[in-house]
Amino acid sequence: MIILGIETSCDDTGISIIRAERNRMTSLAHVRYSQIKTHAQYGGVVPEIAAREHTVTIIPTIHTALDRAHLTFHDIDRLAVTQGPGLAPALSVGLDTARIISALHHIPAVGIQHIEGHMLSVWPIAKIPKSAKKRPRLPLLSLVVSGGHTQLVVIKKIGVYKVLGKTRDDAAGEAFDKVAALIGLPYPGGPEISRLAKQGNPLATAFPRPMLSEPNLDFSFSGLKTAVRYYIADQKKLSIQKKRDIAASFQRAVIDVLVGKTLRAAEALHFRGVSLVGGVSANAALRRAFADACKKRGYTLYLAPPQLTQDNATMIAMVAALTHARAKRETGKRLDPRPAWEVA
Ligand code: KG4
Ligand code: ZN
Repeated sequence: MIILGIETSCDDTGISIIRAERNRMTSLAHVRYSQIKTHAQYGGVVPEIAAREHTVTIIPTIHTALDRAHLTFHDIDRLAVTQGPGLAPALSVGLDTARIISALHHIPAVGIQHIEGHMLSVWPIAKIPKSAKKRPRLPLLSLVVSGGHTQLVVIKKIGVYKVLGKTRDDAAGEAFDKVAALIGLPYPGGPEISRLAKQGNPLATAFPRPMLSEPNLDFSFSGLKTAVRYYIADQKKLSIQKKRDIAASFQRAVIDVLVGKTLRAAEALHFRGVSLVGGVSANAALRRAFADACKKRGYTLYLAPPQLTQDNATMIAMVAALTHARAKRETGKRLDPRPAWEVA
């Protein structure tokens, strides 16, 4: 079966094509058109502008993907399109496009939950560099860290999930983006902070580790962001070294909380495997910290391959492939946007 994935939940127009066989998935095309340059001018994603850009880019991006895979619409057996969560106007563009292609070319379409896409991005898929070689052993404890979400989820089976904890305010990626703005760095802030942090001292300032010592598995990052804001307001001048130190100290605080809480949950619930997925999981220091902590305790760590950390349509198509029976049942259902669709 050949699946064409469509992802437009935020500011990336993602189109991918995968081949799904009984026990194997292969990437045939993986295309991402990023709108970062447009939104950087506004310091964040503007939903209406995101939708307008998706409208302009989506059809050419689909053709690029088909060309790269040497395929036409005739060869596509199913469309898998992100239905939520995400920005409603942006989701609508992908969903409308899927509906039109479905009607014109008689290809069944199925709506996919975006966070499930992130969670299943650690399953093996050929031709994606650094993709896992083996399927993860289940149950698996999955930390989803993106611009919109921070959630600790148990993957009991593919399609059966339980959310153990989530952020009560800002998502981890959102905190990176907001702190970056405070330091005067462009959007998106995650990659900028991580670049600056490389030359900073993570011990320079002891920023708070919100909720780390509380027994629940929820997160909170807005207080940490406020602590950085007050700290910056107290400084007479922000030298470049000072900015590096703030970036490194902030990043360390986020990492301590994410690693601390995830591993505590793994220990308490006797998990042997942990996965780290979503846009923030591109952060090299975070990946290293998870790798070290898991190694120490003998846990297997599953990391999303770099190409699948940020929003992309390969992970969306992978959900349709990995949940084949369910996808079949749900194919043809209404494709209205579900901006607040939660896992499970
Ligand atoms: O998963 P994603 O592409 O979109 C959402 O579903 O939200 O995640 C985007 C988020 C942004 O907040 C961005 O700043 C963050 O991921 N991010 C990073 C890094 N690369 C992207 N955060 C920290 N370090 C990075 N290297
Ligand atoms: Zn995402």
